[in-house]
Order: sequence, then C-alpha cells, then structure tokens
Amino acid sequence: MVRQVAFSSDKNSRRRITVFDTTLRDGEQTPGVSFTPSDKIEIAHQLSDIGVHIIEAGFPASSADEYSTVKAIAAENLDVIICGLARSVKQDVDRCIDAGVDMVHVFIPTSEVQRIHTIRKSHEEVVAITGDIVRYARDHADKVLFSAMDATRTGIPELIEVYTAAVEAGATAINVPDTVGVATPTFMQAMIGALRPKIPVTIDVHCHNDFGMATANTISAVEAGADQVQVTVNGIGERAGNADLACTVMVIESIFGCNTGIKTERLVETSRMISRFSGIMVPPTYPVTGEFAFSHESGIHSQGVIENSSTFEPGIMTPEMVGHRRRLKLGKHVGRHAVREMLSQVHISPDDAQMDEIISRIKQISSKGKKVTEHDLYEIAETVTGMSTGGRYVELVDIAIMTGNHMIPTATVRARVNGVEEVCCRTGNGAVDAAIKALIGTVPKPATLKEFHISAISEGSDAIGHVTLVVEDEKGRVFDAAASGDDVVLASTEAMINAINMVYRNGRNNH
Ligand code: KIV
Ligand code: ZN
Repeated sequence: MVRQVAFSSDKNSRRRITVFDTTLRDGEQTPGVSFTPSDKIEIAHQLSDIGVHIIEAGFPASSADEYSTVKAIAAENLDVIICGLARSVKQDVDRCIDAGVDMVHVFIPTSEVQRIHTIRKSHEEVVAITGDIVRYARDHADKVLFSAMDATRTGIPELIEVYTAAVEAGATAINVPDTVGVATPTFMQAMIGALRPKIPVTIDVHCHNDFGMATANTISAVEAGADQVQVTVNGIGERAGNADLACTVMVIESIFGCNTGIKTERLVETSRMISRFSGIMVPPTYPVTGEFAFSHESGIHSQGVIENSSTFEPGIMTPEMVGHRRRLKLGKHVGRHAVREMLSQVHISPDDAQMDEIISRIKQISSKGKKVTEHDLYEIAETVTGMSTGGRYVELVDIAIMTGNHMIPTATVRARVNGVEEVCCRTGNGAVDAAIKALIGTVPKPATLKEFHISAISEGSDAIGHVTLVVEDEKGRVFDAAASGDDVVLASTEAMINAINMVYRNGRNNH
C-alpha cells in the first residue's frame, strides 16, 4: 500500500518547500541551447507568474552579454528573488552585485577529484576561501547561497567543515549539489540527514540526472529535511540535465502534501514554452507534462477511466491540476468503450457488428505502425455505418503560396466553408505558417493550433512528410488530426482542414 499523507486543507499551514529555478543558468548549459535576451526575460516573467520563489538568472561574470541579460532581468522588478552565480572570486561577486541581483550564489569545488584537477587547492584552502568569499558577498548582498560543488563525492566531515565556514561567514542558505548525478535516493537521504542537525540555515539541493535519478534524489533530500529544491523546466541542463520542475513540484505537493506555492495548473503551459525556446521537445511519455501523461489507449484502461479516472491514473494528480487533458487514444489496443464514447460526441451509435468492423479497421491501420487520429475514426465510422459525422464543413478549393529568400511568405486560400466560398490571404514565418493562418482565416470560429509536428517517413528530398497537429476549440476541447504527402505545405493544409472539420463536427452537439 502506497503511503498516503493526510493533508491539511489549509495549504498555508503545510510544510513549505522553496522552488529555486535554474532553467536560465544550468538549463541554458544544455548542449545546443541558447536563449536570446528577450526569451530570457519572457521566461523569467513566466517563472515568476507561476510562483517560482527564486530564479537563477545567469552567471554574470561569464560574458558581457550574460551580464547585461541578468541586469535586464533584475530590472524587471518581478515578484521573485533574482539570483546570480559566481565562482569564489571577488570579481564574480562584484559582477552579480553590479547586475542588481537579490541573491549571490557562490560555489567552489569540494571533492578531491575536482579540488585537485580544477582549482588545485587543498581542503583547508577551500575552507578558508569559502569563509572569505561568503563574508565578502554578504557584505554586499542580503542573500548569499553557498554551493559545495560535487558535494556528493565529498566526505561528510569535510562537507560539514566547509558548510560551517560558509554559515559562520553569513551564508543564508547552503546548497548540496549532486554535480555528476551519482547519488541514489538512500544516499541523498543519508547525506541530508547527516547535514541537517549541523546546518542552521536553509538546505538546498541541486541534482543532476546522469543516472535518471535527479528528481528521485531531490525528493529524498526533501524527505530528509532539505527546504529548497533546484530544478529546471523540462529537466534541461548540463549533460543529462537536472531535476524537473513539474515532476518535483507534483511529488512534493501531491504525494508529500507540502506547499511549493507553484500554480501547478500552469505547468504544462510552462513546459511547452521552454520546449519552444530551447528547441528540445519533451518525449510524449515524459511524466506530468508529456503529451501522453494522461492518455489511455488500452481497452481495459479506457473503460476504467471513463467510469472513474482514478482507476488508471494517480488520482492525487489529475490532468486539470497540471493544466493537461485526459485523452482516449486510438491504437491497436483500443476497446469498444473508448470508441463508443468518442463516436457519441458526433452522434454516431454503431450497432455491435459495425463496432466490430470499426475496431478491426483501427487495429489494421495501427498494426502498420500508423497513428490513428480522431479524424481517421470519423472517416472509418462514416464508411462503416453510412451515418454522417457532420460532413465536411471546410473544403479546400485552391491554395497559392509565394515564398523566397527576399520576400515574406504569403498564402492565399480559397475554401468552401459551409457551402459558401471564402478567400483569405495571410503572411507567415514560412510557407506552412502562412498556409495554416490563411486557412484559419476562412472560418468564422477559429481553432487555435496548439501543437504541430512534422516528420519525414521516407528518405530523400522528395520524402513523404507526415504532419500531426492538435487544435483547441473555443471551449478548450482539443482534437488531433494528421495528413501525409510529398508536399509538406499541402500535407499541413490537409491536416489543418481535417482538424477544423473535427471542431465543427463536435460543435454540432452544442448548437
Ligand atoms: O552542478 C553543479 O554543481 C552546479 C553548481 C554551480 C551548483 O551547477
Ligand atoms: Zn549543475
């Protein structure tokens, strides 16, 4: 039986865990990721809006650009503590102070391997430098966080000495980094358990994900008495990344019943924003924020969740709590309950024989490795039952696109919308963007494009492109559709038409 914590209904009376987000610093150290200054300001606003307590905005001494971006973020006067990273040298601390941060985060390597091969200092020298630099930083800043880099490969007695020097010099918090991700949850629990009675200030943890245990180690540290967690959105960061913000927060909130102050219903939106800015997509099966985190395909599971969602979901974490949606998916494990439920939305009620045929066709398509969308289901159901799911609300008459290296991509779409011809011309970032915008412009109740993926399903410059997309209607309902073709613009247009027709078919229920 999983341990269930009895939560106080008053969130403010629960144990408070502080969220320190380092997406803009460690997150930007992800190979290939580089946020522009305006991306960083937008991300800082988002993090502040969702209730992050501390944002590590960057490492001001690392470059002139980094310095000016940290300064610009600090000047936004967000309702959040802005922190800057500094090596244990006065010039770095000065750069943080000049950038206007509220908190200086100084670090020094403490493990033997890093002391010998990076800074070439003895343990005694490290203790002395720590006292001096923390005192200097504290003379200039109200909040000083001290990190013993590679703490999890440092002996506990040495760690206690270095952290004690930091606290005596005025550190307001100490951080225990698992710099190379070698800790395990039991190790982390023992280390924090040993430090907790000796450290009278906030204990913060910063776990890397080299063995896939960053979030588990962070959670264990909290169980052992850590007060603050360092995380990044989508777990991005150096090498295999850091503990993930959404997963860490949801365990702390939903399983431990502690309070992070995070507006959890904005976690999915925040994850998508960082995917967009970083160019790193989260895998669909990623916990909490991944596309499939609340999707059900197998017949047994779908039947269960239709009856009671807690049958095959954690229950203590619902899709609504994290800004996600529950989806029933079509595939080779699909069952009658899910199909019946989905078809009832478009007023189709197949008899048993028709249902067998619909399911067999879905399974046939997916056994060829193809994704089956709701649009595919409706097409199959129309063919099998002879009933209409609402017809083709939008039909493309023609599309013309102009693009080139010296012009703004422009698309003109002529479409028959509910029997009436409409024309719309739009510009876009590229041919696909312009085509989709022009198409949306032809319909009165626009659907919002939420996700768009394109992949090549054959090789060469004439490869077949497969487009899948998700749209949201004005009631917040989402629909997916797909199309393939050797012209990616036309395939994208077809997928969007399919999606718009889905929105209108389902809208028939509400007119
Ligand atoms: O991984 C690490 O040790 C760090 C420190 C700067 C805290 O990122
Ligand atoms: Zn790190």
